[in-house]
Amino acid sequence: MKDDSATPTATPPLLAIEDLAVTFETDAGDIPAVDGVTFALAAGEVFCLVGESGSGKSATAHAVSRLIPSPPGKITDGRILLDGTDLLRVSENELRELRGNRIGMVFQEPMTSLNPVFRVGEQIAEPLVRHRGYSRKDALRKATELLHEVGIPAPQDRVRDFPHQMSGGMRQRVMIAMAIACEPSLVIADEPTTALDVTIQKQVLNLLHDLTKRKNIGLLLITHDLGIVLDMADQVGVMYCGKIVEQAPGPALFAAPSHPYIRRTQMAGVLVHGLTVFIHGFAAVCRA
Ligand SMILES: Nc1ncnc2c1ncn2[C@@H]1O[C@H](COP(=O)(O)OP(=O)(O)OP(=O)(O)O)[C@@H](O)[C@H]1O
Ligand SMILES: [Mg+2]
Repeated sequence: MKDDSATPTATPPLLAIEDLAVTFETDAGDIPAVDGVTFALAAGEVFCLVGESGSGKSATAHAVSRLIPSPPGKITDGRILLDGTDLLRVSENELRELRGNRIGMVFQEPMTSLNPVFRVGEQIAEPLVRHRGYSRKDALRKATELLHEVGIPAPQDRVRDFPHQMSGGMRQRVMIAMAIACEPSLVIADEPTTALDVTIQKQVLNLLHDLTKRKNIGLLLITHDLGIVLDMADQVGVMYCGKIVEQAPGPALFAAPSHPYIRRTQMAGVLVHGLTVFIHGFAAVCRA
Protein backbone atom coordinates (compact mmCIF):
# COMPACT_ATOMS: atom_id res chain seq x y z
CA MET A 1 0.00 0.00 0.00
CA LYS A 2 1.19 3.50 -0.82
CA ASP A 3 2.37 5.47 2.20
CA ASP A 4 0.65 8.85 1.82
CA SER A 5 2.71 10.46 4.56
CA ALA A 6 5.81 9.97 2.41
CA THR A 7 4.26 11.71 -0.62
CA PRO A 8 5.72 15.19 -0.98
CA THR A 9 2.94 17.79 -1.11
CA ALA A 10 3.45 20.44 -3.79
CA THR A 11 3.78 23.94 -2.33
CA PRO A 12 0.79 25.99 -3.45
CA PRO A 13 1.79 29.06 -5.46
CA LEU A 14 1.79 32.47 -3.84
CA LEU A 15 -0.56 33.84 -6.50
CA ALA A 16 -2.83 31.74 -8.68
CA ILE A 17 -5.00 33.44 -11.28
CA GLU A 18 -7.63 31.18 -12.77
CA ASP A 19 -9.83 31.97 -15.78
CA LEU A 20 -9.85 35.69 -15.04
CA ALA A 21 -12.18 37.80 -17.17
CA VAL A 22 -12.45 41.60 -17.12
CA THR A 23 -14.83 43.59 -19.31
CA PHE A 24 -15.08 47.32 -19.98
CA GLU A 25 -18.44 48.73 -20.99
CA THR A 26 -18.08 51.36 -23.69
CA ASP A 27 -20.46 53.13 -26.07
CA ALA A 28 -19.16 50.86 -28.81
CA GLY A 29 -20.04 47.75 -26.74
CA ASP A 30 -18.31 45.57 -24.13
CA ILE A 31 -14.55 45.17 -24.48
CA PRO A 32 -13.27 41.81 -23.19
CA ALA A 33 -10.01 43.27 -21.84
CA VAL A 34 -9.02 40.06 -20.04
CA ASP A 35 -10.47 36.85 -21.38
CA GLY A 36 -9.73 33.66 -19.45
CA VAL A 37 -6.26 34.40 -18.09
CA THR A 38 -4.66 31.67 -15.97
CA PHE A 39 -1.19 31.66 -14.48
CA ALA A 40 0.63 31.14 -11.19
CA LEU A 41 3.49 32.89 -9.45
CA ALA A 42 5.65 31.44 -6.68
CA ALA A 43 7.29 33.35 -3.84
CA GLY A 44 10.71 34.67 -4.85
CA GLU A 45 9.80 34.45 -8.54
CA VAL A 46 9.50 37.14 -11.21
CA PHE A 47 6.59 36.68 -13.61
CA CYS A 48 6.75 39.09 -16.56
CA LEU A 49 3.62 39.91 -18.51
CA VAL A 50 4.43 41.22 -21.97
CA GLY A 51 2.37 41.96 -25.04
CA GLU A 52 1.12 44.63 -27.38
CA SER A 53 -0.51 47.79 -26.18
CA GLY A 54 -4.13 47.10 -25.26
CA SER A 55 -3.59 43.35 -24.82
CA GLY A 56 -4.86 43.42 -21.21
CA LYS A 57 -1.68 43.50 -19.10
CA SER A 58 -2.69 46.42 -16.87
CA ALA A 59 -6.26 45.18 -16.60
CA THR A 60 -4.89 41.85 -15.30
CA ALA A 61 -2.63 43.61 -12.79
CA HIS A 62 -5.38 45.95 -11.66
CA ALA A 63 -7.73 43.02 -11.18
CA VAL A 64 -5.25 41.43 -8.74
CA SER A 65 -5.32 44.54 -6.56
CA ARG A 66 -9.03 45.00 -7.36
CA LEU A 67 -8.32 48.45 -8.76
CA ILE A 68 -10.35 48.07 -11.96
CA PRO A 69 -12.33 51.32 -12.28
CA SER A 70 -15.98 50.34 -11.98
CA PRO A 71 -17.83 51.49 -14.01
CA PRO A 72 -16.80 51.03 -16.79
CA GLY A 73 -14.78 47.96 -15.76
CA LYS A 74 -16.02 44.74 -14.23
CA ILE A 75 -14.36 41.49 -13.20
CA THR A 76 -16.84 39.05 -14.67
CA ASP A 77 -15.25 35.69 -13.98
CA GLY A 78 -12.41 33.79 -12.39
CA ARG A 79 -10.50 33.44 -9.14
CA ILE A 80 -7.42 35.27 -7.86
CA LEU A 81 -5.91 33.27 -5.03
CA LEU A 82 -3.28 34.92 -2.85
CA ASP A 83 -1.95 32.30 -0.48
CA GLY A 84 -5.24 30.48 -1.00
CA THR A 85 -7.51 33.49 -0.28
CA ASP A 86 -9.72 34.46 -3.22
CA LEU A 87 -9.21 38.21 -3.59
CA LEU A 88 -12.42 38.46 -5.60
CA ARG A 89 -14.45 37.26 -2.60
CA VAL A 90 -12.99 39.41 0.22
CA SER A 91 -14.79 42.45 1.63
CA GLU A 92 -13.68 46.04 0.95
CA ASN A 93 -12.29 46.22 4.51
CA GLU A 94 -10.21 43.07 4.08
CA LEU A 95 -9.08 44.40 0.73
CA ARG A 96 -7.83 47.66 2.23
CA GLU A 97 -5.87 45.57 4.73
CA LEU A 98 -4.37 43.46 1.94
CA ARG A 99 -3.37 46.39 -0.27
CA GLY A 100 -0.17 47.98 0.88
CA ASN A 101 0.22 45.29 3.53
CA ARG A 102 0.30 41.94 1.66
CA ILE A 103 0.31 43.45 -1.84
CA GLY A 104 2.71 46.26 -2.77
CA MET A 105 2.22 48.24 -5.95
CA VAL A 106 4.58 50.25 -8.14
CA PHE A 107 3.11 52.12 -11.08
CA GLN A 108 4.57 53.82 -14.12
CA GLU A 109 4.53 57.44 -13.05
CA PRO A 110 5.45 58.01 -9.39
CA MET A 111 4.36 61.65 -9.52
CA THR A 112 0.74 60.55 -9.91
CA SER A 113 1.00 58.01 -7.09
CA LEU A 114 2.90 60.16 -4.59
CA ASN A 115 1.08 62.96 -2.82
CA PRO A 116 2.83 66.25 -3.73
CA VAL A 117 1.97 67.98 -0.44
CA PHE A 118 3.45 65.38 1.94
CA ARG A 119 7.11 64.67 2.58
CA VAL A 120 8.24 61.30 1.19
CA GLY A 121 9.10 60.03 4.68
CA GLU A 122 5.53 60.67 5.87
CA GLN A 123 4.20 58.78 2.85
CA ILE A 124 6.42 55.76 3.45
CA ALA A 125 5.57 55.85 7.17
CA GLU A 126 1.80 55.96 6.63
CA PRO A 127 1.20 52.24 5.81
CA LEU A 128 3.47 51.25 8.70
CA VAL A 129 1.28 53.22 11.12
CA ARG A 130 -1.95 52.02 9.51
CA HIS A 131 -1.17 48.35 8.96
CA ARG A 132 1.64 47.53 11.34
CA GLY A 133 0.83 49.58 14.46
CA TYR A 134 4.09 51.60 14.39
CA SER A 135 4.19 54.89 16.29
CA ARG A 136 4.74 57.87 13.97
CA LYS A 137 8.29 58.31 15.28
CA ASP A 138 9.23 54.65 14.75
CA ALA A 139 7.57 54.65 11.33
CA LEU A 140 9.66 57.66 10.27
CA ARG A 141 12.81 55.92 11.52
CA LYS A 142 11.83 52.84 9.52
CA ALA A 143 11.12 55.08 6.48
CA THR A 144 14.72 56.33 6.64
CA GLU A 145 15.97 52.72 6.78
CA LEU A 146 13.82 51.86 3.78
CA LEU A 147 15.18 54.80 1.79
CA HIS A 148 18.65 53.49 2.56
CA GLU A 149 17.58 49.98 1.49
CA VAL A 150 16.34 51.23 -1.90
CA GLY A 151 19.64 53.01 -2.49
CA ILE A 152 18.85 56.66 -1.79
CA PRO A 153 21.97 58.48 -0.58
CA ALA A 154 21.78 60.54 2.64
CA PRO A 155 18.38 59.05 3.52
CA GLN A 156 18.25 60.91 6.85
CA ASP A 157 18.06 64.16 4.84
CA ARG A 158 16.00 62.95 1.87
CA VAL A 159 13.29 61.58 4.15
CA ARG A 160 12.17 65.20 4.61
CA ASP A 161 12.02 65.93 0.86
CA PHE A 162 8.79 66.58 -0.99
CA PRO A 163 8.37 64.46 -4.15
CA HIS A 164 9.11 67.41 -6.48
CA GLN A 165 12.56 67.80 -4.85
CA MET A 166 13.60 64.36 -6.11
CA SER A 167 14.58 63.06 -9.55
CA GLY A 168 12.28 60.64 -11.39
CA GLY A 169 14.53 57.69 -10.52
CA MET A 170 14.57 58.63 -6.83
CA ARG A 171 10.79 59.02 -6.79
CA GLN A 172 10.44 55.55 -8.23
CA ARG A 173 12.78 54.26 -5.50
CA VAL A 174 10.49 55.95 -2.97
CA MET A 175 7.52 54.13 -4.54
CA ILE A 176 9.42 50.86 -4.16
CA ALA A 177 10.20 51.71 -0.52
CA MET A 178 6.47 52.30 0.05
CA ALA A 179 5.58 49.08 -1.75
CA ILE A 180 7.91 46.95 0.41
CA ALA A 181 7.44 48.84 3.70
CA CYS A 182 5.04 46.31 5.20
CA GLU A 183 6.96 43.33 3.83
CA PRO A 184 4.32 42.24 1.32
CA SER A 185 4.41 38.77 -0.19
CA LEU A 186 3.43 40.09 -3.64
CA VAL A 187 4.58 43.20 -5.52
CA ILE A 188 2.88 44.30 -8.73
CA ALA A 189 4.90 46.64 -10.92
CA ASP A 190 3.18 48.00 -14.05
CA GLU A 191 5.84 49.42 -16.39
CA PRO A 192 7.73 50.83 -13.41
CA THR A 193 10.58 52.29 -15.44
CA THR A 194 9.01 53.47 -18.67
CA ALA A 195 9.17 57.11 -17.59
CA LEU A 196 12.89 56.90 -16.69
CA ASP A 197 16.00 57.19 -18.82
CA VAL A 198 17.82 54.01 -19.77
CA THR A 199 20.60 53.88 -17.16
CA ILE A 200 18.20 54.69 -14.33
CA GLN A 201 15.76 52.08 -15.66
CA LYS A 202 18.42 49.43 -15.31
CA GLN A 203 19.26 50.47 -11.73
CA VAL A 204 15.62 50.51 -10.62
CA LEU A 205 14.98 47.11 -12.19
CA ASN A 206 18.07 45.62 -10.60
CA LEU A 207 16.78 46.92 -7.28
CA LEU A 208 13.36 45.30 -7.80
CA HIS A 209 14.98 42.04 -8.85
CA ASP A 210 17.34 42.05 -5.88
CA LEU A 211 14.51 42.76 -3.40
CA THR A 212 12.37 40.01 -4.92
CA LYS A 213 15.06 37.42 -4.41
CA ARG A 214 16.33 38.67 -1.06
CA LYS A 215 12.91 39.06 0.56
CA ASN A 216 11.26 36.11 -1.19
CA ILE A 217 8.63 38.36 -2.74
CA GLY A 218 6.59 37.30 -5.77
CA LEU A 219 6.95 40.02 -8.43
CA LEU A 220 4.39 40.47 -11.19
CA LEU A 221 6.19 42.75 -13.62
CA ILE A 222 4.59 44.29 -16.67
CA THR A 223 6.94 45.60 -19.30
CA HIS A 224 7.37 46.22 -23.01
CA ASP A 225 11.12 45.74 -22.79
CA LEU A 226 12.22 42.25 -23.80
CA GLY A 227 15.76 42.96 -22.61
CA ILE A 228 14.35 43.32 -19.09
CA VAL A 229 12.41 40.11 -19.51
CA LEU A 230 15.48 38.19 -20.58
CA ASP A 231 17.46 39.54 -17.60
CA MET A 232 14.82 39.17 -14.93
CA ALA A 233 11.96 36.82 -15.71
CA ASP A 234 11.63 33.38 -14.19
CA GLN A 235 8.39 33.00 -16.15
CA VAL A 236 6.98 35.03 -19.03
CA GLY A 237 3.39 35.29 -20.17
CA VAL A 238 2.69 36.82 -23.58
CA MET A 239 -0.72 38.50 -23.76
CA TYR A 240 -2.67 39.08 -26.93
CA CYS A 241 -6.29 40.25 -27.11
CA GLY A 242 -6.93 39.55 -23.44
CA LYS A 243 -5.46 36.06 -23.41
CA ILE A 244 -2.12 34.54 -22.47
CA VAL A 245 -1.13 33.07 -25.81
CA GLU A 246 2.27 31.79 -24.75
CA GLN A 247 3.89 31.06 -21.41
CA ALA A 248 7.37 29.73 -20.72
CA PRO A 249 10.45 30.23 -18.55
CA GLY A 250 12.23 33.40 -19.82
CA PRO A 251 15.20 31.85 -21.67
CA ALA A 252 13.04 29.13 -23.24
CA LEU A 253 10.66 31.71 -24.66
CA PHE A 254 13.47 33.60 -26.35
CA ALA A 255 15.18 30.50 -27.67
CA ALA A 256 12.07 29.40 -29.57
CA PRO A 257 9.36 32.07 -29.55
CA SER A 258 6.18 30.91 -31.18
CA HIS A 259 4.16 34.10 -30.90
CA PRO A 260 4.74 36.82 -33.53
CA TYR A 261 4.88 39.53 -30.81
CA ILE A 262 8.16 38.16 -29.41
CA ARG A 263 9.61 37.51 -32.87
CA ARG A 264 8.70 41.01 -34.08
CA THR A 265 10.03 42.69 -30.96
CA GLN A 266 13.23 40.63 -31.06
CA MET A 267 13.69 41.63 -34.69
CA ALA A 268 13.12 45.29 -33.84
CA GLY A 269 15.73 44.98 -31.07
CA VAL A 270 18.27 43.49 -33.51
CA LEU A 271 17.57 46.28 -36.02
CA VAL A 272 17.95 49.01 -33.38
CA HIS A 273 21.17 47.40 -32.13
CA GLY A 274 22.50 47.12 -35.72
CA LEU A 275 21.58 50.72 -36.43
CA THR A 276 23.26 51.92 -33.21
CA VAL A 277 26.47 50.03 -34.08
CA PHE A 278 26.38 51.48 -37.61
CA ILE A 279 25.86 55.08 -36.39
CA HIS A 280 28.69 54.76 -33.84
CA GLY A 281 30.96 53.29 -36.52
CA PHE A 282 30.02 56.02 -39.01
CA ALA A 283 30.64 58.75 -36.38
CA ALA A 284 34.07 57.21 -35.58
CA VAL A 285 35.00 57.21 -39.31
CA CYS A 286 33.92 60.87 -39.64
CA ARG A 287 35.98 61.88 -36.59
CA ALA A 288 39.10 60.08 -37.91
N1 LIG B 1 -11.09 52.58 -18.37
C1 LIG B 1 -11.26 51.92 -19.52
N2 LIG B 1 -12.38 52.10 -20.26
C2 LIG B 1 -12.57 51.41 -21.41
N3 LIG B 1 -11.72 50.51 -21.90
C3 LIG B 1 -10.60 50.30 -21.21
C4 LIG B 1 -10.30 50.98 -19.98
N4 LIG B 1 -9.10 50.54 -19.52
C5 LIG B 1 -8.68 49.63 -20.42
N5 LIG B 1 -9.55 49.48 -21.42
C6 LIG B 1 -9.42 48.59 -22.58
O1 LIG B 1 -9.07 47.30 -22.14
C7 LIG B 1 -8.12 46.71 -23.01
C8 LIG B 1 -6.89 46.31 -22.22
O2 LIG B 1 -6.26 47.49 -21.72
P1 LIG B 1 -4.96 47.46 -20.82
O3 LIG B 1 -4.80 48.82 -20.26
O4 LIG B 1 -5.04 46.34 -19.88
O5 LIG B 1 -3.84 47.17 -21.91
P2 LIG B 1 -2.25 47.05 -21.70
O6 LIG B 1 -1.85 45.70 -22.21
O7 LIG B 1 -1.89 47.40 -20.32
O8 LIG B 1 -1.72 48.16 -22.73
P3 LIG B 1 -0.46 49.16 -22.60
O9 LIG B 1 0.74 48.34 -22.99
O10 LIG B 1 -0.76 50.23 -23.62
O11 LIG B 1 -0.40 49.70 -21.21
C9 LIG B 1 -7.85 47.73 -24.09
O12 LIG B 1 -8.65 47.42 -25.21
C10 LIG B 1 -8.28 49.03 -23.48
O13 LIG B 1 -8.74 49.92 -24.47
MG1 LIG C 1 -0.83 48.97 -19.43
